[in-house]
Amino acid sequence: MVPRLHGVRAPRPGRRGPSQATPEEPSTAGLRVIVNGEARSLPSEPGRSLLYALREELGLTGTKYGCGEGECGACTILLDGQPALACQLKVKEVEHRKVTTVEGLSVGGLLNPVQRAFAELGAFQCGYCTPGMVVRATALLAESPRPSRSEICEALEGNLCRCCGYAAIVRAVERAGELAGETSGRR
Ligand code: FES
Ligand code: FES
Repeated sequence: MVPRLHGVRAPRPGRRGPSQATPEEPSTAGLRVIVNGEARSLPSEPGRSLLYALREELGLTGTKYGCGEGECGACTILLDGQPALACQLKVKEVEHRKVTTVEGLSVGGLLNPVQRAFAELGAFQCGYCTPGMVVRATALLAESPRPSRSEICEALEGNLCRCCGYAAIVRAVERAGELAGETSGRR
């Protein structure tokens, strides 16, 4: 017979109770996260980084690993519409929330205005910082459709470009504001 402790059934010999699970032991349950508009299941390892889960579990490699310490912005995603750093988030923290990566910014196969402006002006050199810049700029335009140059610089100050292509990047964000205005004017 399995003994009871204060009314709680004790684990069977050889089995672990919930409080005895090892901290890094993966759970098979999976966590539900809305990624780019689709419900996805991600392994619910307690310490699993969202950045690695996006890249390795879901194949969304547009989100880049730069510093891994919250300093470079290469891993910028949108979390419930707000910019966030995937390297600083655990999967558990985004359960049931909406994550948008650079792959999710295009609508119906069409690039969004920021993506179009970056392509039009060639606002990249190696391109490593570009997804994070594009995601961050998309969030800026959602709040401020025609941002000033100083607003753009302020919004992008956490996103580093090792190629120092900042002038072209700022021009591209300005251009994105124009393109977005043209698009909304045609509706
Ligand atoms: S990789 Fe996340 S901020 Fe640098
Ligand atoms: S274009 Fe190379 S890091 Fe920005």
